[in-house]
Amino acid sequence: MKKIYVLNGPNLNLLGKREPEIYGHITLQDIHDRLEKLAKPYKIDISFHQSNSEGKLIDLIHEAGQHPDSAIILNAGAFTHSSIALLDALLSVNIPSVEVHLSNIFKREEFRHHSYISQGVIGMICGFGPKSYELAFQYLAGQPGGEK
Ligand code: DQA
Repeated sequence: MKKIYVLNGPNLNLLGKREPEIYGHITLQDIHDRLEKLAKPYKIDISFHQSNSEGKLIDLIHEAGQHPDSAIILNAGAFTHSSIALLDALLSVNIPSVEVHLSNIFKREEFRHHSYISQGVIGMICGFGPKSYELAFQYLAGQPGGEK
């Protein structure tokens, strides 16, 4: 069975309460539930995580890399704009990864316009709120191993 690791970085545990004018009122649990529902018809297992620690996210990327038929959806939060270590982790594992963001980072402060991790992923989806995750799921589900 294909396994999709959905990794969420710092402050995303506060989704729903955190800056709702930017991120909306949906919680991380809502996103998890929605992905579980989407994955049901597929032979895909969702492994959903959130951590405020860069090291823990790196460990999870390494763990995903040990499952040959896995993929990653990563919202690295603010680490997107600072972490060469997360980029290196993505480059160290040989599995498809998609970067996601709820907000359109290019419409926001200039420091959010650069992503270190983009170089380590197939593509990036941003600005569609929780749908950014669902679009990433749909892409990965359409890849080999993601059959219904
Ligand atoms: C975010 C965008 C980042 O710039 C920010 O630091 C976040 C959330 C998003 O999902 O829109 O924490 O990754």
